[in-house]
Amino acid sequence: MTKRIYLCLAHMSDTGLEQKYIKEAFDTNWVVPLGPNVNGFEKDLEEFVASPQPSPEGKGGKRVVALSAGTAAVHLALKACGVGPGDEVCVQSFTFCASSHPITYLGATPVFIDSEKDTWNMDPELLEEAIKDRIAKTGKAPKAIVPVALYGMPYQIDRIMEIADKYGIPVIEDAAEGFGSKYKGQMLGTFGKYGVLSFNGNKMITTSGGGALITPDEESWREIMMYATQYRESYPYYQHEKIGYNYRMSNICAGIGRGQMTVANDHIAHHKHVQALYEELLKDVNGIHVHTQPGDGGYDSNYWLCTITLDPDLKIKGQENAYKTIVTGAVGGAAGVIHAADSATTDCQPNDNVEALRVFLDQAGIEARPVWKPMHKQPVYRDAPAYTNGVSEAIFKIGMCLPAGPYVTDDDVKYIVDTIKDAIV
Ligand SMILES: Cc1ncc(COP(=O)(O)O)c(C=O)c1O
Repeated sequence: MTKRIYLCLAHMSDTGLEQKYIKEAFDTNWVVPLGPNVNGFEKDLEEFVASPQPSPEGKGGKRVVALSAGTAAVHLALKACGVGPGDEVCVQSFTFCASSHPITYLGATPVFIDSEKDTWNMDPELLEEAIKDRIAKTGKAPKAIVPVALYGMPYQIDRIMEIADKYGIPVIEDAAEGFGSKYKGQMLGTFGKYGVLSFNGNKMITTSGGGALITPDEESWREIMMYATQYRESYPYYQHEKIGYNYRMSNICAGIGRGQMTVANDHIAHHKHVQALYEELLKDVNGIHVHTQPGDGGYDSNYWLCTITLDPDLKIKGQENAYKTIVTGAVGGAAGVIHAADSATTDCQPNDNVEALRVFLDQAGIEARPVWKPMHKQPVYRDAPAYTNGVSEAIFKIGMCLPAGPYVTDDDVKYIVDTIKDAIV
């Protein structure tokens, strides 16, 4: 095998519609962060997330704002929930940093909530315990609740909404990885007050970089639109009464998004197909378990990435060399810029067999990655309150993500599974 198999690569429509929309933008000189593609992409997204649910009666339905990144969507949703200095926000610990970092941009403190075992997402029981404890300790309730659809898996949204409503706290669904995932037939991102989507290059659909915020109604949509465009009041000159941000999506990126919307359902179907194939081919491999959605019928994950866990006693070739050398090409090094790590290990890391399998797959041309390291175990959040049960830390030590994007063929999955079998001693 000569080609490298990546976790999830951007994949354009066969019809090349993305380029048609970009060309239109150039031809009409809409090379700015607003314009027909941005409006069109927002309309497409509104139709997509509304389906098949009718608009909530009397509320006029969800409205979407296209933004420069999913991170910007998290930031604006928090802002719109009134999060500010001294506030606290309950956020799933098992996630990518963009779920929690924007809380700190606003001078607030993340309160990390551990996961339950079934979906790997926010544990509703711990959430309620945390809310009660924060009220007891600080005298006020957290300002928002941020559950995350990890690798596309729906969270226990019924329970989370029930608790949120009981304490009157708004929910911001981080569905950055869960574009097109559903719970009981309803799209993720439409249950809470706000829903975050990401169109980063590795996501279910891409705009190269970009994101969107699903807002509850026209009024919230208008307010988010103001915040996303520097909060300018209507005068012939620039008049500012609130601090805004430059977060609106570019009309070029939105052109890619419009083209991608024509293949969104194909992408989702492909990810589910790849997941099913992994489940089938790995089912008899001792010591390896494919993470699957709860079987009660309500869950419909987009299976953005396939995730597996390794039994701690599973022996992998080369395991004795795991973490022996300092990694020089860290995940996320930009433009070749990385901090040289001063040790090969940290006090919380995946087990040796997981690292050995990652290296084995890498040498066979397959990109695999540990699951997200829980935020409450990140040095930068050492002082943040955390309500834990050991679940996310335990999964971090045994978990791994496997390639699942549109470029991953059936033969690729077979090759990946054969390579995994090969790696087992
Ligand atoms: C869970 C989660 N939240 C938020 C984001 C932020 O999205 P973006 O990269 O578009 O800023 C991402 C992904 O990148 C993510 O995985």
